[in-house]
Amino acid sequence: MLGPPGAGKGTQAKLLQERFAACQISTGDILRKAVADQTPLGKEASAYIDRGALVPDVVIVNLVAERLKDKDCEAGFILDGFPRTIPQAKSLDEILTKMGRGLNRVLSVKVPKDVIIQRLAGRRTCRSCGALSHKVFNPPKKEGVCDRCGGELFQRDDDREETVAHRLSVYETQTAPLVDYYRRMGILQEIDGVGKIDDIRDRVIKALGEGVA
Ligand code: AP5
Repeated sequence: MLGPPGAGKGTQAKLLQERFAACQISTGDILRKAVADQTPLGKEASAYIDRGALVPDVVIVNLVAERLKDKDCEAGFILDGFPRTIPQAKSLDEILTKMGRGLNRVLSVKVPKDVIIQRLAGRRTCRSCGALSHKVFNPPKKEGVCDRCGGELFQRDDDREETVAHRLSVYETQTAPLVDYYRRMGILQEIDGVGKIDDIRDRVIKALGEGVA
């Protein structure tokens, strides 16, 4: 899943994971858990995340390579927020080739900047299970409480206005070039990310069912 911050990658990846027998690998979720647990990875990553910068490629590539070996990824995997740079994409190609695997599709979710800002300003994440909600667009039944597990909902520190601006510029300079990279490989599908969550899920599933160029 490729797309700017707030495009809905995590929301759609979680829905796909429920539908298909595939694991969801969200590098953002893995890093945030490491930060919360104060592991060495978390201590290294937190300074980058807090200012909206990318964690060094080598750190990210190693953690994804390890995660791909897990049993729940045997039948398939959904990458959410990775790769984010051309070097990460090249490393991923090498890792998958060594494993005798490959990418079937890359979905680029397109959402205009004003919608992104509204989505990030209202996003709430469950501290226990990671479920996503939104104060206005997808509100929980009880404010501050996760519908799925009853955990506490919190606002991500990197969703502050000034950090969001930096994350968007990092996306444009470092991640957007991946759209052409995967288009050239013939596995890119572009998805209109504006609309109801369920409608976008239907677009995603349709795109996955269509043949690649
Ligand atoms: P990461 O967690 O990956 O953040 P991101 O890519 O900026 O993406 P987001 O999680 O902000 O947005 P999303 O597209 O998943 O949207 P969501 O579904 O939540 O990365 C965070 C940081 O970790 C990075 O800045 C970096 O420091 C580091 N990092 C991570 N991966 C890295 C890598 N590979 N390399 C280096 N560093 C890395 O939706 C947003 C909100 O909108 C939610 O509230 C949701 O409920 C709502 N919403 C979703 N869809 C809709 C809809 N259709 N209509 C209305 N509301 C909607």
